[in-house]
Amino acid sequence: MRIPAAALDALRQARHVVALTGSGASAESGVPTFRDAQTGLWAQYNPLDLATPEAFLEDPALIWRWYRWRRELVAQAKPNAGHFALAALAERVPRLTLITQNVDGLHQRAGSDKVIEFHGNLFTERCFSEGIVVTDADHEAEVPKCSACGGMLRPGVVWFGEAIPETALEAATAATADCDLFLSIGTSSVVWPAAGLAAAARANNAVVIEINPDVTPQSGQSHFCLQGKSGEILPELLDYLTL
Ligand code: OAD
Repeated sequence: MRIPAAALDALRQARHVVALTGSGASAESGVPTFRDAQTGLWAQYNPLDLATPEAFLEDPALIWRWYRWRRELVAQAKPNAGHFALAALAERVPRLTLITQNVDGLHQRAGSDKVIEFHGNLFTERCFSEGIVVTDADHEAEVPKCSACGGMLRPGVVWFGEAIPETALEAATAATADCDLFLSIGTSSVVWPAAGLAAAARANNAVVIEINPDVTPQSGQSHFCLQGKSGEILPELLDYLTL
């Protein structure tokens, strides 16, 4: 696509870029986005109804089946051109902070380090009652149990109505306050507090660029909307810095 010259200038001049990604950044890797309809076995469920502590308490075995299915799907997926371009971009700008709402680990597999995982990680487990991360889960059990207290283990992700991990929230808030360019990539910008980061950056005089094939509530608040797939637009931005 034709990227406006002023957006490219903002990128070239940026001192600190913050990139916030959502599930659209992994769509081209074959990982379904949250607000896409599910297909196959899971078509009868809405992912938003499965990602709550209430749903877990009601039927922990169902929720574990869904998360195991997602783990398998992500394990077979590969990072796409957008993930790789973001990892490379970190080498081309003075500073880049990557915040992701994704729990799939694809940014790290593409070579990004120090990724701020705002909504946790799909491949970890926590004790449902104590909240602590455990490393000795029995992966064969229908609902794995905590070896310390005997209670249920849950996937180490953030569910609706739950707080963002404190260190992630602090790091994301500090980076957003410091950045001069904010990229909002592949997110519907409807889930808070992540959805508020772009506005916080803008209030602090950062240039905000959205990358998304669709219009979102963030679009009207962005200086530039690059309408298209992140796997195509991010490599273009990277090429511009390489030229
Ligand atoms: P959504 O499913 O809400 O939004 C995905 C966005 O990606 C949409 O705006 C799509 O238009 C866009 N999109 C699709 N394909 C794309 C592509 N190839 N390139 C760029 N963008 C593309 O997913 P999120 O915004 O990530 O939270 O959802 C936010 C949070 O809601 C998730 O982290 C999850 C969910 O509930 C929790 O589970 C706490």
